[in-house]
Amino acid sequence: MRVLGIETSCDETGVAVYDTALDGAAGLRAHAVYSQIALHAEYGGVVPELASRDHVRKLLPLIRQTLAEAGLGTADLDGVAYTAGPGLVGALLVGAGTARALAWALDVPAVGVHHMEGHLLAPLIEDDPPEPPFVALLVSGGHTQLVAVDAIGSYRLLGETLDDAAGEAFDKTAKLMGLPYPGGPQLAALAEQGTPGAFRFARPMTDRPGLDFSFSGLKTQVLLAWQQSDQLPQTRADIARGFEDAVVDTLAIKCERALDAAGSDTLVVAGGVGANRRLRAKLQAMCAQRGGRACFPRPSLCTDNGAMIAFAGALRLQAGQHDDAEVKVTARWDMASLPAVAAGG
Ligand code: KG4
Ligand code: ZN
Repeated sequence: MRVLGIETSCDETGVAVYDTALDGAAGLRAHAVYSQIALHAEYGGVVPELASRDHVRKLLPLIRQTLAEAGLGTADLDGVAYTAGPGLVGALLVGAGTARALAWALDVPAVGVHHMEGHLLAPLIEDDPPEPPFVALLVSGGHTQLVAVDAIGSYRLLGETLDDAAGEAFDKTAKLMGLPYPGGPQLAALAEQGTPGAFRFARPMTDRPGLDFSFSGLKTQVLLAWQQSDQLPQTRADIARGFEDAVVDTLAIKCERALDAAGSDTLVVAGGVGANRRLRAKLQAMCAQRGGRACFPRPSLCTDNGAMIAFAGALRLQAGQHDDAEVKVTARWDMASLPAVAAGG
């Protein structure tokens, strides 16, 4: 089954074709992402209306480009998957409307995919995928969640952030130290030049039991440290390193607790912050010490992309799940409400 995946929930237009064939053609046939970063940079954050308009401009050319790279025509598609939420409603509607129209014209089924389920399943696109049950850490610009994955499609929330998401904390902290939007990856790059231990910030909510997170206080600590410092380039790098270490340690401590709580040694990590090198190394070491493993998608599949939507959609379409021909998107959507994916069901 060849499934076209379309992602337009925020500021990236992503398109991919995933093939579930059992022969050598299986897997990701092509994927392309167009990032709107330059468009939003001068405003210091995503402007929803500009995001929607840019998806309108970029989506069809990107679909043509991706199909050409896969060596396929629209007639070769067996299904269409699109992000139906959570996200910016206007942006989501561009992908949903296009996907629905295409599926209608081609007379193939279409399925709306939960953006965070897409992230969660992205590590399973890679070689030697883990099998449920496992624990997932979802760390993106909008979400920070620990999820018990009992089966594909069966998700139990173990903990989440009470305020800022991990990626949001990276972005806001970068901004207050004068780095351009979106600051997360730039802050991480700067931290590479920082001296470990020069600044030490709190590991929020690790001194009490529980699996929830809070990152907004950390941001304030960094702001104070930055304002009281000499603000020289090396100091900025040292503070960036102190901040990154605090976030990475906090996430690792909570992941270990979640693995204990779930009785598992397999951790799946996804979402934009999953591209962070220090986080990847720390979680890999923690899981290895337990005799388990941490599974990540390649960095380009950590941030928003169409491949994860094509893959998640393919699993659901293969299981016989698809939606009516209505263009419907959901800005806020609880992942625990999703139906389980039972193959052939
Ligand atoms: O999953 P994603 O692409 O979009 C959302 O669904 O939110 O995540 C984007 C977030 C941004 O906050 C960005 O700053 C962060 O992921 N991010 C990183 C890194 N790369 C992306 N944060 C820390 N280190 C990175 N290397
Ligand atoms: Zn995302």
